Amino acid sequence: RSVTSDLDRDSISEYACQRRTTLKNYNQKFTDAFEILAENYEFNENKGFCTAFRRAASVLKCLPFTIVQVHDIEGVPWMGKQVKGIIEDIIEEGESSKVKAVLDNENYRSVKLFTSVFGVGLKTSDKWYRMGLRTLEEVKRDKNLKLTRMQKAGFLHYDDLTSCVSKAEADAASLIVQDVVWKIVPNAIVTIAGGFRRGKQTGHDVDFLITVPGSKQEEEELLHTVIDIWKKQELLLYYDLIESTFEDTKLPSRKVDALDHFQKCFAILKVHKEREDKGNSIRSKAFSEEEIKDWKAIRVDLVVVPFEQYAFALLGWTGSTQFERDLRRYATHEKKMMLDNHALYDKTKKIFLNAASEEEIFAHLGLDYLEPWERNA
Ligand code: CTP
Ligand code: MN
Ligand code: MN
Ligand code: MN
Repeated sequence: RSVTSDLDRDSISEYACQRRTTLKNYNQKFTDAFEILAENYEFNENKGFCTAFRRAASVLKCLPFTIVQVHDIEGVPWMGKQVKGIIEDIIEEGESSKVKAVLDNENYRSVKLFTSVFGVGLKTSDKWYRMGLRTLEEVKRDKNLKLTRMQKAGFLHYDDLTSCVSKAEADAASLIVQDVVWKIVPNAIVTIAGGFRRGKQTGHDVDFLITVPGSKQEEEELLHTVIDIWKKQELLLYYDLIESTFEDTKLPSRKVDALDHFQKCFAILKVHKEREDKGNSIRSKAFSEEEIKDWKAIRVDLVVVPFEQYAFALLGWTGSTQFERDLRRYATHEKKMMLDNHALYDKTKKIFLNAASEEEIFAHLGLDYLEPWERNA
């Protein structure tokens, strides 16, 4: 390998916000393995190893070449002893026995299966596992279990919700959201954030930010009106509206994974499919109305943001999760600043730093700007 690539590896930052990470991943074999191990550590509440493997996966995603020998990762940050061991195994054997053991592990498999249901988290999964339950059928059969409204929706729409949302479906959802929001507030800004803004072709949900330039009054009622209209149109399969808890005197959160305080709605939308066979009489005769399900249940997150916080919300809701964690860690440790989805605070100068765009936030932090599609860390 050339000297240049050695130098390149030495200059890779330990922070994802200083690495341009596109969707082109030359090391998926390794990053998939790390993410399985990280997930298993998360299930077992081993935060240290979980973070170590998440960071290792994240950093390998920015390498412009495929790792073929151990020498290739010299100088790359976050390549600890455990991580190196897994890389060696995969280079030598083509796979890692540790990863295989996790994939075969009964607890991992059950928790993975249970958490695939919308509304089921680690706590519930653990409980079900300790009760001896192993399959979704067993969970459904257990009449003593009290399912939440969210979990009931999760089971009801399980197949739809576990099949990936395509770009076309995200666009269809986007039209539905824009249509209703603009009916209520014509000058509202509706933006897709999350994975789709980073250029991904599929996702597990569609994330929307909604803001109204200049206004405060209209914002508060907006989501309530959206929900009322969708209910009447019978497009809402599930929703949970969370009111804003934001206080503008508060400093940004210290936690890397803190939840924000925006008014938001976690919903399942009924998105009608594009009918390619419209007017095809042979098909219409072969299937009765009931037999054709011409819609798909799609998870959408709607977040209502005060206009002056819009840049911070957009930066926070675009992700990736690993990018966001490193951005906050960078702000805290390298700049003595506090960043969250609402604001940026300079602890040295004791002032809030305003921003009207993501570019301005990067500039406040002394970072080169990364485009959304370069944030796939
Ligand atoms: N996010 C957040 N607060 C939440 C939920 C999400 O700030 N309560 C941020 C996360 O940092 C994440 C982004 O919003 O990076 C999008 O979240 P999510 O939809 O979970 O992830 P995606 O990157 O969109 O991936 P997917 O395709 O699986 O939806
Ligand atoms: Mn998403
Ligand atoms: Mn989401
Ligand atoms: Mn620290």
